[in-house]
Amino acid sequence: MNKNEKKFYIKTWGCQINEYDSLMIANTLIQNTSYIQTNNFFEAEILILNTCSIREKAQEKLFHQLGRWKNLKNQNKNIIIAVGGCVANQEGKKIIKRANFVDIVFGTQTLHRLPNMIAKKIQKNKIFIDISFPKMEKFKNMIQPVCDNYSISIPIMEGCNKYCSFCIVPYTRGKEISRPFHDIINHITILSQKGVKEVQLLGQNVNSYKSIDTDNKKYTFSKLLRSIARIPNIERIRFITSHPMNFTDDIISVYQDVPQVVSFLHLPIQSGSNKILKLMKRPYSIEKYKVIIQKLKIARPNIQISSDFIVGFPGETEYDFENTMNIIKEINFDMSFSFIYSPRPGTPASKLQDTVNIIEKKKRLQILQKQIKKQTLYWNKKMIHSMQKILVHQTIKQQKNYYIGTTENHRSVFFYNEKNVLGKIITVKITKKKNNIFQGQCI
Ligand code: SAH
Ligand code: F3S
Repeated sequence: MNKNEKKFYIKTWGCQINEYDSLMIANTLIQNTSYIQTNNFFEAEILILNTCSIREKAQEKLFHQLGRWKNLKNQNKNIIIAVGGCVANQEGKKIIKRANFVDIVFGTQTLHRLPNMIAKKIQKNKIFIDISFPKMEKFKNMIQPVCDNYSISIPIMEGCNKYCSFCIVPYTRGKEISRPFHDIINHITILSQKGVKEVQLLGQNVNSYKSIDTDNKKYTFSKLLRSIARIPNIERIRFITSHPMNFTDDIISVYQDVPQVVSFLHLPIQSGSNKILKLMKRPYSIEKYKVIIQKLKIARPNIQISSDFIVGFPGETEYDFENTMNIIKEINFDMSFSFIYSPRPGTPASKLQDTVNIIEKKKRLQILQKQIKKQTLYWNKKMIHSMQKILVHQTIKQQKNYYIGTTENHRSVFFYNEKNVLGKIITVKITKKKNNIFQGQCI
């Protein structure tokens, strides 16, 4: 490595989609500029912040971080600071107004234009703000990340048309756009030839995937799942996130006859009260959600479900919360991402009167998380002595022939095998659980 090479540094906050976007930013900069990536911001000349605005304090967090980078820029005026991600889309030029040392503001859909913006910034010393939503351009310019793993995440759609009353995503990510079907299939086929065994399909609402491809054929999410399963070597398919509203019977039937789709599903319900779901603009009822789960369990009896919950939404009474607790117990969710409601600027829910005090909100969240933890332990216990398919992704440096793999339900398993099984999907018998990791025996 040349000591004089100029470097860029990326800091990422937020969800898996943001993580993926940062990978794309890195790839596009490596391929289109002379900069190389560093994990040490002290040695970087380009500092990039990929932000998240799903919950509160996003702005404060951003300006706090920018304050630290300002000190670096005071010492080296060549440093370029670029802010991207959801806060960039939300705040736009307000970022530069408040932090005039920022050089570039780019959006969730314009990150592929970053090399160009950097070049112009250097040539003309011009400040750039581009938070537009060019349709499809991002997918078309997607540079395939270098694959060095057996499991890989790939985006299949972006954006959201649902406009849940509490959520900022439709405003920061734009309308739903599905990546062309053949692009996805080609991408995964290439990855499978390089040793990838598991794919995780990413999108804000993967199950509203809809593509009319160059062959004029219509492709839905269930068709996509079935086609990916037919790619040789792809042994596992996961996806995140899906919406109950679009969890149609054709998708449920995939669980019946496509074993590559894992027996673990993240299906956000948000609340157990129909009244609150209505206020949240979530267009399904608890009864409808339960029917989906019942059908799924018929198709795939051992399926485990995880979910997202929001507590303390405006108007949530003790009784509504009790209903949330009831559905948690009834479905027996395995895991959850649960949060106190956070009003997001510009969303319809932010105009609703906040009726629950913060002490009560914290108490509800604690009760909810305690119950989910109990249920996670239940599912953990059920795994002892069971057979589990694991994707082996790690060897242990100090212990020869010891490996770590991951089950379909996201548990890590440590085991011994005389043969090299790295990168393979194998079946192990779970013997016990020790220090947060399961131990397994090869059979
Ligand atoms: N598309 C997904 C959700 C994406 S956002 C779906 O259909 O549910 C991820 C999660 O963040 C949401 O499920 C929700 O639980 C949480 N979230 C979003 N906005 C929030 C807010 N304003 N306050 C608290 N939690 C929020
Ligand atoms: Fe947000 Fe609802 Fe879409 S939670 S991402 S608006 S489905």
